[in-house]
Amino acid sequence: MPDTNAEVSVQQIGEDRIRVRVGDREFEADAYCPHRKGHLAHGYVNAARLRIACPLHHSSFSLETGEALTGPTGTPLCVREIVREITEAAPDPVG
Ligand code: FES
Repeated sequence: MPDTNAEVSVQQIGEDRIRVRVGDREFEADAYCPHRKGHLAHGYVNAARLRIACPLHHSSFSLETGEALTGPTGTPLCVREIVREITEAAPDPVG
């Protein structure tokens, strides 16, 4: 079930990529909208639907697939989910 109260942050990473955090999930995406280069670091993130909307003409994109879902462009974003492995602590050799 989507977490509508998930903490959201968007951060520019490098020249043309952004990192979007939604709760405990993290995505990397193009920083500029494929329509007319709206800066997605200033976009609106819908935490419940895992979407980001362009601040210029409001195209929205899936953070999971990059698919353009609404708005004037049908061109997808390049996105990927960043998966961090949780490693178990090594057993205590003394214990
Ligand atoms: S620049 Fe993003 S929808 Fe137009």
